[in-house]
Amino acid sequence: MQKILVTGGAGFIGSHVVDALVEQGKSVLIADNLSTGKNAHVNPSENTYFFDVDITKRDRLEQIFRQHSDIDGVIHLAAQSKASPSLDAPEHDANINIHGTVNVLELTKAYEVKNFIYASSAAVYGDQQTLPIAEDVAVEPLSPYGVSKQAGEEYVKAYRRLYDIDARVLRFANVYGPRQSVDTEAGVITIFVEQLLNGEQPGIYGDGKQTRDFIYVTDVASAILHCLFEEPSEPEESSPVYNVGTGQETSVEELLRELCAVMDQRYRPLYMEKRPGDIEKSYLDNRKLRANYAWEPETSLADGLTATIAHAKRSDASYEKIDS
Ligand SMILES: NC(=O)c1ccc[n+]([C@@H]2O[C@H](COP(=O)([O-])OP(=O)(O)OC[C@H]3O[C@@H](n4cnc5c(N)ncnc54)[C@H](O)[C@@H]3O)[C@@H](O)[C@H]2O)c1
Repeated sequence: MQKILVTGGAGFIGSHVVDALVEQGKSVLIADNLSTGKNAHVNPSENTYFFDVDITKRDRLEQIFRQHSDIDGVIHLAAQSKASPSLDAPEHDANINIHGTVNVLELTKAYEVKNFIYASSAAVYGDQQTLPIAEDVAVEPLSPYGVSKQAGEEYVKAYRRLYDIDARVLRFANVYGPRQSVDTEAGVITIFVEQLLNGEQPGIYGDGKQTRDFIYVTDVASAILHCLFEEPSEPEESSPVYNVGTGQETSVEELLRELCAVMDQRYRPLYMEKRPGDIEKSYLDNRKLRANYAWEPETSLADGLTATIAHAKRSDASYEKIDS
C-alpha cells in the first residue's frame, strides 16, 4: 500500500486530498498543527494517521519520517494560506511558508522520498494584463503571501534540480467548497453563503465586475492526485509548474446571482468601496495540465455551490463524507 504524507491535511483543501487518497486505497500520514485546520476534518479511516506537528519545528517533523521510512510521496499544503494576514504579519507568513517549506524539503531529501507536490497559488501572478494567465508569464506577486508562495516554488524547483526529487508546483485558482473556514478572510463564496443563510445583505467590494476563477475543491484534490500518481503524456520541462483552475472567469456579481438562484433568494447586494490592491480580472489557463494529465475540472459552478450550501447548512462539525 502506498504511503503519502500530507502536510496541512486537516485544512480545507488538505482534508479533501486525504479523502481522495483514502478512497484510492492509500495510507495517509497527516502533519498539521491545527492552527486553521480542524480535527473534525480528518477522515477517521484505519489508514489515516494524524500528527500534531508544526512544520517550522524540524525535529518534531522528522519523527514522522523516522517512524515511517517508507513514505512514497509528500503533498505539501501546510501554509499561512491567505493574503491579507501576510500584510500585517509578513514574518509569520514567511516563517511558515518559506522556512516550513525548506524543512519539509530537507526531510524529503534526507529520507529519499521521490515524489513531491507543492501547493502554490495564483497569488504569485499579481495583476496580469494577458488573460487567461499562462504558467510562463513573469510572476509579480502583490502581497507578502504571494512572495512567500513564490519563494517556496523556487526552493521546490531547486531541490528537484539538485536532488532528483520528482517535484511539481501546482498554482491553484480560487478554491471553494465544503469545509472552507468561515472567517473574515474566507473565500468570497463562503462569506456570501454565510451572509445569505443568516439573512444578511451580501456585500460586494467595488462594482462587482471583477472576475476570478472559482474551482471546486474536489477538482483541485483530483489534480493533485493525477500529478502525483500519473505519468505525464508529454516530457515535462525541468521544473514543471501547472495552473489548477477552470479556465473560466466569473464576475463577483455573476457569482452572487448564481448563489441567490441556487438558494432561491432575491439578488440585493450592498455595494461597498473597492478595496485598494484588489485585482480586476484573473483567471487561469489550464490547458497545460489538461494536456499532460487525464484531468478535467468536473464540477460546474451551480453544482459546486449547491454542495457548498448543503454543507454550510449542517450543524454537525464532526467528520462527514461530502457528497458532490
Ligand atoms: N484556498 C484557496 O483558494 C487556495 C488558493 C491557492 C493556494 N492555496 C494553497 O493551498 C494550501 C491549502 O490551503 P487551504 O485553503 O486548505 O488553507 P487552510 O488554512 O485551510 O489549510 C492549511 C493547513 O495548514 C495547517 N498549518 C498552518 N500552519 C502550519 C504549521 N506551521 N505546521 C503545520 N501545519 C500548519 C493549518 O492548520 C491548516 O490545516 C495552502 O498552501 C495555500 O497557500 C489555497
